[in-house]
Amino acid sequence: MKSGKFITLEGIDGAGKSTQLAWIVELLQQAGLQPVVTREPGGTTLGERVRALLLDKSMTMHAETEALLMFAARREHLDKVILPALQQGQWVISDRFTDASFAYQGGGRGLDQAKLGILEHWVQGGLQPDLTLYFDVPVEIGQQRVRQVKDADRFEQEQAGFFQRVRNAYLDRVRQFPNRIQIIDSSQPLTEVKAAVEQTVQRLLHDA
Ligand code: TMP
Repeated sequence: MKSGKFITLEGIDGAGKSTQLAWIVELLQQAGLQPVVTREPGGTTLGERVRALLLDKSMTMHAETEALLMFAARREHLDKVILPALQQGQWVISDRFTDASFAYQGGGRGLDQAKLGILEHWVQGGLQPDLTLYFDVPVEIGQQRVRQVKDADRFEQEQAGFFQRVRNAYLDRVRQFPNRIQIIDSSQPLTEVKAAVEQTVQRLLHDA
């Protein structure tokens, strides 16, 4: 049996990754695959309840509590959804994964990267995505898009400085893991973003 591939999508809020998620699913289906599509925080019954807590803007919590909840939901997600699917040879696309914890909790909230590294190792061992697409946009563009969402969640209501730190942390991850993380300029016209995504996905399909 051919092994499945694990693809993750990342970007600041308003980077346009949801639109590209649908496009990636279409590309994989055209190649005869039935990918499992999931998201973080979430993807399981427990994870979706943890997500509701994390996104609830009436909820206040310590930055480390936030990080621990992200990784708790991730542990469940790996156990119930991601690992079983990969073991059966299915492809998995997750809308966000651990790079988001390094970007939002590490960059945005200023948490110690080493502590996040311990959680990463604890929860996922050596498992890493086969491909991560990081959709990069300037903070102002992301914020404009988010403002069109009527009811901003606990993260979306953060100020520009927070998202600047998140973006910088993502760009650090791109430099740290150039083979795994593909950067896509998401401020380009939609057709060009789609073309860049297609090229990257086709390369992975070709190598599979
Ligand atoms: P979404 O709006 O893209 O579904 O993501 C929900 C929010 O959760 C988003 O603002 C980013 C945030 N997040 C973190 O802060 N850390 C994480 O590890 C993950 C997976 C998401």
